[in-house]
Amino acid sequence: MEIDVGGTQMRMHTLFTSEQIRTRVTELAQLINADYAAGEPLVVLVVLHGALLFAADLVRELSVPLEIESVRLKSYQGTQSTGTVELVGKLPYSLIGKNILVVEDIIDTGRSLKFLLGALDQSRCKSVRIATLLDKPESHEVEIEAKYVGFSIGPNFVIGYGLDLDGRYRNLPYIAELTKA
Ligand code: IMP
Ligand code: MG
Repeated sequence: MEIDVGGTQMRMHTLFTSEQIRTRVTELAQLINADYAAGEPLVVLVVLHGALLFAADLVRELSVPLEIESVRLKSYQGTQSTGTVELVGKLPYSLIGKNILVVEDIIDTGRSLKFLLGALDQSRCKSVRIATLLDKPESHEVEIEAKYVGFSIGPNFVIGYGLDLDGRYRNLPYIAELTKA
């Protein structure tokens, strides 16, 4: 299938099927369940909107007691990072003394998460770890390390399973890569 991206025809092809995503999400959940001791307060901090679908599937497989909070960051326009990151609204108040698991859709330049980690520095939480469904290691521009990574991928733009192109395609049940047609 081809789609028009700002006047350029892009080819869309499936990178991960919903089956492959489901299997990997289960594996990540098993790792997280093994790492977090029951009884310690865990806050799953969902980075909206991209991580919405990933987080919804992940938390249903977590057996440790947890709360769900969310933050919204803005950094992207089209398929290019704008380089600046903003927090839309405020960080949740309830992070003090808690273990935070940041759940993100994708790490590209790393700037969004770097910014969020900086903001979390002042939240007096107990620990912070990152779970990201996708990672683009070749695109990192700042030092960032995710403890749980679903899939490492190349630098091409991807859509689906929460990931958008200017607000669209988040509802695709699979992840597709866009390449020049
Ligand atoms: P970063 O700050 O460059 O790491 O970008 C992080 C954010 O940009 C992610 O949370 C996504 O919302 C968005 N993003 C980065 N790469 C892609 C992509 O390939 N498809 C869709 N969104 C992306
Ligand atoms: Mg996004």
